[in-house]
Amino acid sequence: MRITGRTRLAGIMGWPIAHSRSPALHNFWLEEQGLDGIYMPLPVKPAHLAQALRALPALGFRGCNLTIPHKQQALSIVDRAEPLAQRIGAVNTIIVHPDGSLEGRNTDAFGFRESLRDSAPEWEPTAGPAVVLGAGGAGRAVVAALIAAGVSEVRLVNRTLGRAAQVAEDLAAPRSHIRAHPWSGRDAVLEDAGLLVNTTSLGMTGEPELEIDLARLPGSAVVVDIVYVPIETTLLAAARRRGHHCVDGLGMLLHQGRPGFEAWFGTPVRVSRELRAAVLMTLTAPR
Ligand code: ATR
Repeated sequence: MRITGRTRLAGIMGWPIAHSRSPALHNFWLEEQGLDGIYMPLPVKPAHLAQALRALPALGFRGCNLTIPHKQQALSIVDRAEPLAQRIGAVNTIIVHPDGSLEGRNTDAFGFRESLRDSAPEWEPTAGPAVVLGAGGAGRAVVAALIAAGVSEVRLVNRTLGRAAQVAEDLAAPRSHIRAHPWSGRDAVLEDAGLLVNTTSLGMTGEPELEIDLARLPGSAVVVDIVYVPIETTLLAAARRRGHHCVDGLGMLLHQGRPGFEAWFGTPVRVSRELRAAVLMTLTAPR
């Protein structure tokens, strides 16, 4: 890699940031496309987020991504946010415009939809109710994506029921029903479902396992886990044993990066087998 006076700059702000796989993702694309650009990890403390974002135009950055814990706070800092980001309540992509203004977008819903299109092309929004476990930031993005895709019933299951009810209220749409369900009802709501998505942190390395009985889930249902460490979660392994089509969490991570890359570096990119392998290697390599 050669850094020149014309090198285009982008990066990701988070605190901490060392765990992020986004630099591996974007720098893979930069190299693949032979572009004069760089994507850097930017450790930014929450108290410094506004200052750091406001510095982007002055430093010549094209934009950045945001990760934990900045996604919600950024919404109140940017000059404008796309309606989807406002509905989800979080921003994960910042575009610096030529006049120095900051635009906030949320590409997690896009990433989820594209991952599903890529890995489960047979899934149709009309396949039946979609069950979503978890009503945090990721859960909101997944529900928004499902509604935009035309799913008519989303069963949103969350440990804190009030949080699911709030999502149902915030993301309500004319032709879709979002129903909040208590965590204890997670086995029963699988009846006649066409899709099951885990957006909770359960099953992630270092977190408790996700305990769920898949017996009532129709065999045709697609099962998605957005957790990607480990790549094969206990949920996916159990679903695979029952013959379900399974989608792991890496696809969403890779696809959510595409809109930002295209805006900053001016070139559309795709999620190839080689990219998946390269990022997967950073997940399994000791850090
Ligand atoms: P993210 O932005 O990544 O979605 P989050 O906002 O912290 O992260 O949300 C984490 C999700 O995992 C939430 O739905 C959380 O449930 P609560 O809303 O009740 O907190 C869920 N979660 C975390 N630990 C859980 C557990 N032990 N049992 C059930 N759900 C859990």
